[in-house]
Amino acid sequence: MHAWRLDDGHQTVVLAARGNRLPEVMYWGAALPASEDLGALVDASGHDVTGGMLDENPDLSICPETARTFPGQPGLIAHAVDGTPIHGTLLLVSADAEGGRIGLTYRDDANGMTYIAELAVDSATRVITASATLRSDKPIRVLWLAAPVMPAAQHSDEMIDVSGRWCGEFQLNRTPWIPGIRLRENRTGRSGHEHFPGLFVPARGTTNTQGEAWAFHYGWSGGHRMVAEELPDGRRQVQFGHATGIDSRPGLEFATAPLYLAYSRTGLNGCAVSFQRHVRDHVVTWPRPERPRPLHYNCWEAVYFDHKPEVLKDIAGRAARLGAERFVLDDGWFDARNDDTSSIPDWDVDRRKFPDGLDPLIEHVHGLGMTFGIWFEPEMINPDSGVYRKHPDWAFGPGDQILGRQQMALDMSNTAVREHAFAKIAAILRAHDIDYIKWDHNRVLPVPDHAQAEGTHVLMGQLREAFPDVEIETCASGGGRLDLGILSHTQRAWLSDSNDALERLSMQHNAALFLPAAVTGSHVGPRVSHTSGRNLDIRFRAWVAASRHMGIEMDPRELTEGETEVLAKVIAWWKSNRGWMMQGDILRLDSADPAIIAEMHIAADRSRFAAFIGKSATSAQILPRPIRLAELDPNASYRVELANRDDAVRLSRGNMALKNGPLMLSGRFLVSKGLTLPWSYPASLWVIEGSLP
Ligand code: DGJ
Repeated sequence: MHAWRLDDGHQTVVLAARGNRLPEVMYWGAALPASEDLGALVDASGHDVTGGMLDENPDLSICPETARTFPGQPGLIAHAVDGTPIHGTLLLVSADAEGGRIGLTYRDDANGMTYIAELAVDSATRVITASATLRSDKPIRVLWLAAPVMPAAQHSDEMIDVSGRWCGEFQLNRTPWIPGIRLRENRTGRSGHEHFPGLFVPARGTTNTQGEAWAFHYGWSGGHRMVAEELPDGRRQVQFGHATGIDSRPGLEFATAPLYLAYSRTGLNGCAVSFQRHVRDHVVTWPRPERPRPLHYNCWEAVYFDHKPEVLKDIAGRAARLGAERFVLDDGWFDARNDDTSSIPDWDVDRRKFPDGLDPLIEHVHGLGMTFGIWFEPEMINPDSGVYRKHPDWAFGPGDQILGRQQMALDMSNTAVREHAFAKIAAILRAHDIDYIKWDHNRVLPVPDHAQAEGTHVLMGQLREAFPDVEIETCASGGGRLDLGILSHTQRAWLSDSNDALERLSMQHNAALFLPAAVTGSHVGPRVSHTSGRNLDIRFRAWVAASRHMGIEMDPRELTEGETEVLAKVIAWWKSNRGWMMQGDILRLDSADPAIIAEMHIAADRSRFAAFIGKSATSAQILPRPIRLAELDPNASYRVELANRDDAVRLSRGNMALKNGPLMLSGRFLVSKGLTLPWSYPASLWVIEGSLP
């Protein structure tokens, strides 16, 4: 028997194998004692054999093998170049396990294949990163290669995964475990609005704040496949890998993206916080980490393609007076881009709109104390563009494909295409003082191809190297390309094209299962939402945006005096709290009222918190139910107060202490009974501030 363990003081993973076979993950859960006898653990995990089955249970290994009669989805599906299936048997060559890392090499001599699995745990964030590589002595086709396969708990009733659509990202699906496969496959060429590459497996009874949970995220931008399977014998497995059947060209080496894993005994939040910290502290590279996240102004919903320097200057002045610190010039500044039918990728400043180039606007913006950001969509091409007329072969996919937003994708595997994009973007960045790119991607691919995402990552890497001070925002019609792969090149995610605060409230709450506040852009939209037609109060719009990386995206000329005052006040609040909030954790709270979406930001040192209690609908009952906070020191006394108690409406008639000022309450009380808030309208939000004295 061979056995290896990974520990971070909080969780233990045990991999063990019979003889030289591939190992199974025998245990993934709460930290085991250092003295645990792994031999006994393996013995105790053995399964019985009964009638109507094989004489032995095939291993649910990190790469389940067809040659061992595995009764479910195998971890590897490979064919010889002539199409003959390869049913290999992998045997141990070497193992290298120390300091929170396990590296295992297996070999199938008969078929000339080497399989390498790597697992490493980050003891600070408690995220395990797992990946697999397959090498072959001769060219083969690989139709499916899973990252190291994990078992799923049998005391779990359901799995939670994420779907969505344009303007409706991060919808959670709860699917009961039943025999067979829950298969999610994203073949759009992006990580996609539709199938975010993440999964939570909660134990029975787990909520946001309590119970055990296991979580998965596949860090790949080009489309993934997830298999969550209950085998006929009752065992369960979770597999993640690249979307299949896309790149079946013969090759010698194949690798998965990193699969990120998190385990929690403190509800879904334990996994969420691990992912949030890992993204913020290890995946994203920050050009100037010491600089506070700047408050954004983005002009898209103010002017769309109608760029007039004088109007933009006026808007910039108003944005700066509200407190904006970065002005982002969105789509419409180049070539003849008057609508979305033409001009990408002719990245030359439109001299009809900007006769003196971008400098006067940029200087104006700088003069107002803001930095300048600019929009590109580097992977796309409009048939109506100079570049297409010259290089129609640069477009990706069939000539008669269905266009998406009147555009085609560029062939990102073509070096000439990437050189063009690099040269054009670099020219703009060199000629101007610009510290930010909003990087858009507005259509799904005509046919899926992993070489597209690979090419994009190369281009982004080159640009980051050449312009290390320039931040990039990942946007794909909102949150259509959001994963830990793209976040290794980018610093902000445009979560959704919906600036409707009501919709944003639940989207960003769900996204917090994976994403920290520091990378999650959230803008105060127009009074009447451009994507839902809803008319929402400025208080609600402002506070929803203030719970993430805040920005403004509206025509500030529409603001009344009263609205301006509210917005400026919330922005000032955000600025005085962003230092700790952008470095803190977001905890989703368990609300007793389905109309309430509640979460709490807690500082890294746990000395303060801000709870955002959003009312997404009218409650069924008359009185607000208490909101139980989370992860406070039970014996400490906290000063709690409503940051926005002036927002109380006339129909809140009671004499509640919280409406009058702060209260001192124990962590025990706040977590056990919770805070009872004043009555409020739907589409409103209470902000509770708490601190240790
Ligand atoms: C889609 C993005 O999500 C929007 O924010 C905006 O940048 C437009 N594209 C511009 O065309």
